[in-house]
Amino acid sequence: MAHTLRVGVVGCGNISTTYFKYAPLFKGIEITACADINSEAAKKAAETYRVQAMEPAKLIKHKDVDIILNLTVPDQHFAVSLSAVKAGKHVYSEKPLTLSLKDGLKLRDTAESNGVKVCCAPDTFLGGSHQHARKAIEDGVVGKITSGTAHVMGFGMEHWHPNPDFFFKPGGGPILDMGPYYIANLINLIGPVKRVAALTNMARPIRTISSEPRNGESITVETPTNIHALLEFHSGATVTLSASWDVWAHRHANMELYGTEGAMFVPDPNFFGGEVLTTKRAAAAEPLPAWDHPFGKPNQENRGGMVANYRSAGLADLAAAVGSNRDARCSLERTLHAVDVMTAALKSGEDDKFVEMKTTCTKPAYLSPDEARAMMR
Ligand SMILES: NC(=O)c1ccc[n+]([C@@H]2O[C@H](COP(=O)([O-])OP(=O)(O)OC[C@H]3O[C@@H](n4cnc5c(N)ncnc54)[C@H](O)[C@@H]3O)[C@@H](O)[C@H]2O)c1
Repeated sequence: MAHTLRVGVVGCGNISTTYFKYAPLFKGIEITACADINSEAAKKAAETYRVQAMEPAKLIKHKDVDIILNLTVPDQHFAVSLSAVKAGKHVYSEKPLTLSLKDGLKLRDTAESNGVKVCCAPDTFLGGSHQHARKAIEDGVVGKITSGTAHVMGFGMEHWHPNPDFFFKPGGGPILDMGPYYIANLINLIGPVKRVAALTNMARPIRTISSEPRNGESITVETPTNIHALLEFHSGATVTLSASWDVWAHRHANMELYGTEGAMFVPDPNFFGGEVLTTKRAAAAEPLPAWDHPFGKPNQENRGGMVANYRSAGLADLAAAVGSNRDARCSLERTLHAVDVMTAALKSGEDDKFVEMKTTCTKPAYLSPDEARAMMR
């Protein structure tokens, strides 16, 4: 039987509950400890999930921890991940990997010299629907993908998150916060990006929190909140990506890909499931034939409906990759490329010109239903 890797959570905030809840679905990983600069948060999580609470610096160096699960806020990702790899730990970080390409390259070099792997969210592209879309593209169902559109637009995180400041600071904004889901899935479906151009702006320099407990407080916005990007892929495909928190309502689909033989309508890359529709040339869109992928099965209530949530799948894939010394699907190489794409969009918005990518990557390995089933307890 494969060795189980012990996971230490650093950052016991909002998203940590999702990992505590779903990690036990997977073989090869076990959350054993947690830490937070807010010791009360760590203590509460430790009591709720029956793990050991520690100081962050102690947990990162602890001999009984193999993987650091970095769930801190974006501007802490680099420092926490870097100290973990320096301590000889593997890392799985929440997105984005880092806020700059320079930091990501330093993290890569340090991880390489310490012989450890670094992975980064999102893992939603491992969802049943997105793997189904991947298979259909590789089977030639819509021909060669030549273009597409992607939209992630809404009215902002200050209306639901209890502590939304970080979304509006450098390293936040809709492209670095929500872009990772879309770019990871585009890399999964089309491959790496060659160059990027974007127009960026912001609707409001001050945002007013309407969520509890800080209802009525103000946040000064320090990053663009509206980005319209053009992505040219190495495959030749061109895709527009609109990421905005300045939109009250819209009717755009999450992701549409246009091929030489038809079109594909891809569900929300922020979730693991949803219906994938395709057309044969201009005929009416039809769902792909049913398939039984475990990471597409609805298992969580969301806004009155049910969605598929298998967050921790990427963490389990990292543990399996460590065990067999293979490439992890949420690898640093791919998430570093996503950082390159996202920061290039912001740079293009500032400089008013196309930005060539400095990095590239391969598509992650396809995850079949049988392989996904084998990952689960
Ligand atoms: N909330 C979500 O639904 C969601 C979904 C997907 C991804 N994420 C990502 O997860 C990350 C965390 O988001 P969140 O919503 O949980 O934020 P949060 O503010 O609720 O929690 C972050 C926690 O990290 C702690 N922390 C900050 N710096 C630290 C450090 N240096 N060492 C130890 N602890 C530290 C904070 O005290 C806090 O408890 C972000 O990168 C976010 O983009 C969040």
